[in-house]
Amino acid sequence: GKNIPKERTIDQTFALLAEGYNYLPNRTYRENSNIVQTRLLGQKIICISGEEAARAFYDEGRFIRKTAIPKRIQKALFGEHGVQVLDDEEHKHRKGMFMSIMTHESLERLEKITKREWRAAAGNWTKEEEIVLLEEAKVTLCRIACEWAGVPLYEDETRERARQLFDLVDSIGGVGPRYQRGRKARKQTEKWVADLIRQVRDGRLSPAEDTALSIIANHVQLDGELLEPDVAAVEVINIIRPTVAIAYFIVFGALALHEHPSVRERLREEDGTYSKMVVQEIRRYYPFAPMLGARVRADFLWEGYAFKKGTLVLLDLYGTNHHPDLWEKPDEFNPDRFKNWKKSPFDFIPQGGGDYDKGHRCAGEWATVKVMQVFMELLAKELEYEVCDQDLSYSMVRIPTYPESGFRMRVLNLKPKAI
Ligand code: HEM
Repeated sequence: GKNIPKERTIDQTFALLAEGYNYLPNRTYRENSNIVQTRLLGQKIICISGEEAARAFYDEGRFIRKTAIPKRIQKALFGEHGVQVLDDEEHKHRKGMFMSIMTHESLERLEKITKREWRAAAGNWTKEEEIVLLEEAKVTLCRIACEWAGVPLYEDETRERARQLFDLVDSIGGVGPRYQRGRKARKQTEKWVADLIRQVRDGRLSPAEDTALSIIANHVQLDGELLEPDVAAVEVINIIRPTVAIAYFIVFGALALHEHPSVRERLREEDGTYSKMVVQEIRRYYPFAPMLGARVRADFLWEGYAFKKGTLVLLDLYGTNHHPDLWEKPDEFNPDRFKNWKKSPFDFIPQGGGDYDKGHRCAGEWATVKVMQVFMELLAKELEYEVCDQDLSYSMVRIPTYPESGFRMRVLNLKPKAI
């Protein structure tokens, strides 16, 4: 095959830590190539970016996920033996379980819960001098996630569970204390949810049939067995953890309206078509999931380059969402660009790409869009608020990132229902 552009350095792990979201784009855009070879964590790595790269990355014949996710990430963010590390028939079967949670009826239930809980929270905010949106979003989303998933949550444990679920996600790029908080939260949340799984199985707890807790507790594997309680816990947490993580996008959504008053104006006047475009642009523009990894299943050629069996390949999610070949003025926030979006499953990939049922694309993408749409419309149509003076810049190095102030705002009034 052709020569893959290579970085002439020993190991780039420190550069990754220093450059964050821009690490991969800095290399691919610099080399003017959608493929670059480097060394990270002591191994040879191929980095790829763009629509065609994503199409190749999601070709099951070419890649596997087993052993692609570092243990340190499994021990905090994901848990072990979950859907993320499965391949082939085992993956399809497990993924089917997740997608059976995402029915139209279930998403409508999620929308109802979301409206009710955001309004209840906003009512309380009017009584406060000011609020930190990130903190309120975590707690509100934790209530929403648990009710939707059939997970009982007592009012006096809500803040702590919200923090634990958030800490799992916040640990991704962390070293030292931030990573350790994720490890601790992993132990605490798995113990909590594994016990709920046992309670469902011996009849002490009866969540509604269409909830994640019920579906996962009763899920039968290909070998005819139920999931081990700790693996079932990992999978229930794979529902409630990322639902709480929508808090990052919520804060960026509020920031977007603050920085683009015209978008806020239009949100006020227009219907769901516009709010959907705003939500898509928030998910495209702001950094969240940076990249994904997979291993080459068997030798193959892609665009003339040789990929050797076992090589770790990283797909640049953030860089693809900002790729100058795919997006006009990629670094401008412009919801209208989604009017003419050709709906490729491989160019807009904040939550992964490809097919939901057959591949690893995020099972919760529709749920994420729903929850964010409700929040953005509420913010524009039903809340009267002022944004406090604060530094709203965010790091491009910290993964995941958010404005450090957490978005402080004063809520003056909750107006009559408008959505
Ligand atoms: C997978 C991002 C919300 C459930 C993924 C993947 C990404 C992602 C990048 C990996 C795709 C791949 O490996 O190819 C996000 C982001 C979210 C979000 C940025 C916004 C907060 C959610 C929600 C849920 C969810 C709300 C559930 C309600 C899952 C599951 C998988 C997944 C179960 C594993 C799918 C598989 O391996 O087959 N997500 N997600 N996510 N997500 Fe999300």
